[in-house]
Amino acid sequence: MRTVLQKLLITLLAMGSFSLASAGDVFIFQTADVKIDNKKATVYIGTPVKVLKNVDDKNALIELSGMVFDNKLFINKDKSLLLASAEKNTFGKNGEEKKLQAIIEKGYLTKKSAEVWEEHEEFFYETCTQCHAAHEPSEHSMLEWDAILATMNGFAQLDEEEAKYLARYLKANANNGFYQKSK
Ligand code: HEC
Repeated sequence: MRTVLQKLLITLLAMGSFSLASAGDVFIFQTADVKIDNKKATVYIGTPVKVLKNVDDKNALIELSGMVFDNKLFINKDKSLLLASAEKNTFGKNGEEKKLQAIIEKGYLTKKSAEVWEEHEEFFYETCTQCHAAHEPSEHSMLEWDAILATMNGFAQLDEEEAKYLARYLKANANNGFYQKSK
């Protein structure tokens, strides 16, 4: 017979590995559909967010901070990295700094930013170490990576999709990207 404690334990385990007990910064594990102001929107892989509260067993309310341009939320005014987008929502005026609240399934959140980029990292080392040793993402700023990739994408013969995939990884982990304090 199961004790009350065992039942409680099973319920807790069923709620998933993501615990809101200590709600610090978490990261978008995978590009995901979300609701912003009850309308469909998208948040993009790697974006740091703050968990505000549990909505129910499955969903959480999160907050994203960025700069608005054309109903998209970016990391900065150079639009170096996209954080969120929507078709019909109005995020705000162009150039406005904004905090947006979104409802997301908790399975799309992780506490470890490194986990997000494991496959990207593998692709990077496979693709970009054929001619020289790897240049770590944190060696350059987001803007520098854009300039460098303009040449190196050609050297590595990447198609458009591969180029985008790699650029997001390098810029997210750049010395002024998502995970560095000096923006
Ligand atoms: C076909 C060979 C080749 C491949 C593949 C290649 N590179 Fe390079 N890379 C070079 C050469 C040659 C240089 C040095 C000359 C130059 O700066 O253009 C260089 C220089 C660099 C630098 C230094 C630039 C600077 O201004 O300090 C970075 C960073 C870099 N590569 C990143 C990458 C990345 C990221 C990839 C994968 C997309 C890549 N490389 C793939 C040949 C290559």
